[in-house]
Amino acid sequence: MEVVILPDAAAIGSVSADAIGALLGRKPTAVLGLATGSSPLAIYDELAARYDRGLISFQQARGFTLDEYVGLPAGHPERYRNVIDTVFVSRVDFAPGAVRGPDGLAADIPAACAEYEEAIRQAGGVDVQILGIGTDGHIAFNEPGSSLASRPRIKTLTRQTRVDNARFFDGNIELVPTHCLTQGLGTIMAARHVLLVATGRSKAEAVHQLVEGPVSALWPATILQHHPHVTVLLDDGAAHRLQLADYYRETYRSKPAWQAI
Ligand code: GLP
Repeated sequence: MEVVILPDAAAIGSVSADAIGALLGRKPTAVLGLATGSSPLAIYDELAARYDRGLISFQQARGFTLDEYVGLPAGHPERYRNVIDTVFVSRVDFAPGAVRGPDGLAADIPAACAEYEEAIRQAGGVDVQILGIGTDGHIAFNEPGSSLASRPRIKTLTRQTRVDNARFFDGNIELVPTHCLTQGLGTIMAARHVLLVATGRSKAEAVHQLVEGPVSALWPATILQHHPHVTVLLDDGAAHRLQLADYYRETYRSKPAWQAI
């Protein structure tokens, strides 16, 4: 696991966009795993800016989102499918239908989950998976207690996650759905490169567990310690509790220029 501590979200966006740009340069048909939440916004802003400048194209790429609320109507602005369109997909040149998400309105949820996993597999798997992390250590919506080998399925959101996400629902936890569909931890582990982004002190404990804690279903993100290629991109706030922060800083500073993340 590589830990990169950067001054701010803009720097995180820039380093991430370098990695994604390099991937698309060598593989224009790359499959991108797209996360919602506020953490990846700087990445999407930087990618959109590079697209505007003609430096990058998503024309042949595909995308799969991580998760979706169950039951939000198709036009709801907080439906993750709509969120990812607004913050990223509509700002660049993906082909129509190239980005998919789990169907939170499916009548047969287990079938929709199995079909989603199969669609990712048929696309050749995810080349780079962008991730945020919840304050309780969830990735996608794999809440504490999730099977570390899980596949897409329905989950009940914890009260903490609903409290955290109430800010997107007029501050009213009652408006936050109680259930979601999410890629499983096993699905995420199959991505070839994981870029996990966290900013701010509210994430410091989850980041400490992710990087330095024991692997445990109590902190689902810790499963990433078993992944061969994870880059954790942090600001100082999110890095605040890391025991080996100085070592991570030194390692990144002394990294040879040719060795990208
Ligand atoms: C949400 C999403 C996650 C996201 C996390 C953190 O509930 N399901 O994919 O990583 O919570 O969100 P944020 O980046 O806004 O703090």
